[in-house]
Amino acid sequence: MLNIIILAAGQGKRMQSDLPKVLHPIAGRAMLGHVLDAAQALSPDRIVVVVGHGADQVQAAFADGQLAFALQQPQQGTGHAVMQALPHLLEAQDAGDTTLVLYGDVPLVQADTLRALLQARGAGLALLTETLDDPGGYGRIVRDAQGRVRRIVEHKDASAAERAICEVNTGILAAPTAALRQWLGQIDNRNAQGEYYLTDIVGLAVRDGVPVAHAQPAAHWETLGVNSRVQQAQLERIWQAEQARRLLDQGVTLADPARFDLRGALRCGRDVFIDVGCVFEGDVQLDDGVRIGPHCVVRAARIGAGAVLDAYTHVDGALVGAAARIGPYARLRPGADIGPEAHVGNFVELKKTRLGRGSKANHLAYLGDAQIGDRVNVGAGTITCNYDGVNKFQTVIEDDAFIGSDSQLVAPVRVGQGATLGAGTTLTRDAPAGQLTLSRPRQQTVAGWTRPVRKG
Ligand code: UD1
Ligand code: CA
Repeated sequence: MLNIIILAAGQGKRMQSDLPKVLHPIAGRAMLGHVLDAAQALSPDRIVVVVGHGADQVQAAFADGQLAFALQQPQQGTGHAVMQALPHLLEAQDAGDTTLVLYGDVPLVQADTLRALLQARGAGLALLTETLDDPGGYGRIVRDAQGRVRRIVEHKDASAAERAICEVNTGILAAPTAALRQWLGQIDNRNAQGEYYLTDIVGLAVRDGVPVAHAQPAAHWETLGVNSRVQQAQLERIWQAEQARRLLDQGVTLADPARFDLRGALRCGRDVFIDVGCVFEGDVQLDDGVRIGPHCVVRAARIGAGAVLDAYTHVDGALVGAAARIGPYARLRPGADIGPEAHVGNFVELKKTRLGRGSKANHLAYLGDAQIGDRVNVGAGTITCNYDGVNKFQTVIEDDAFIGSDSQLVAPVRVGQGATLGAGTTLTRDAPAGQLTLSRPRQQTVAGWTRPVRKG
């Protein structure tokens, strides 16, 4: 049985925030969420999150995750934290019973590194360690003359000689569950911090003749923790660079990998180009040959093959068909569905609207709750008046219609196939197919009129 305990009770004072530390985001997802992703990739039998500061908020944020929560109040050290999780652990009473300890504020640890640690454990204890040029602050791995791990000494308790050790404890470890229970029952808080140290189980394992193995993270950044906004910002950049690298490896062109932000999952076809300053959120799919211009925000969207989003386009919850052209400065809101080869130009907003194949809305328009057919031309300044202040109504524009500039379509209303609306039409009744409809007072010229002149 594999148990994973995630320690997330700490306050994170240095964040200077009312939000519990582990709920602060990296790449738009709470740090604890990243840790849970890595944990879940191991298909554990049980995940226990140890909460303390802001426990209610943390629990509420992850209420649907089939997690067990253990409350640690007050916080008396990492060993004390793990003790609170013990009642929740599952055991089959065999050598496979393993408990892995992770940290809610060490968000970037990768499942492959954890697998390597579990592999290294064998039947004993395994520590994730690193060798650092500057080990200050970390617990040090103390080895004997034969190079066998003897114990971990915390920085504050270490002698000068021990502080010279560069091999450090990342905090992440995997232990046999039954032995972990026993060892935790034997640790005390007689140390420099007056805390129950999880790290003290290492000396007890050695005493009991349990082998202590170690593994190292594939990348150094996997074990970096977040205690401050500065560290959060640093990890954000590290993670964005890593995500950018993965996309480059898959064949995506990023105009500048350092000016790319992904807060979700991005799937790309072949030969996708992404210009600088774009932000992707939620699940986004870019099909083959898509080009994203600079400074676009694309959220929960699928962009069809060969489509182009020009600069400063904002897409949220929308579909864009193949070879369509959107922007610059276009806004596609939830339910926008742009057909293949359609064009949506600057300052055009669409919401819950289908724009058919090859149709064009090139300038300054609001199209909401509308079904627009193929090859329709929507003139500049066109507005669907879809809302009477209480209810929303549909506008239907059939194939090959031509909507003159500055028209208002007061829904519910229908424009028939091939119909033309004269510029400036306020359409309150259906426009018949194939005919010109307009609602404009006749233009007149007042003969002999002169401009008033200033008196006195
Ligand atoms: C710990 C390790 C140290 C290691 C370092 C790596 C111990 C005793 N020391 O030290 O060997 O080099 O991590 O960063 O384990 N937490 C709780 N409840 C508590 C105390 C801590 O949930 O009562 C959580 C914290 O929120 C944090 C994590 O455990 O996420 C680590 O706690 P922290 O106090 O930062 O440990 P360190 O002193 O850094
Ligand atoms: Ca501490």
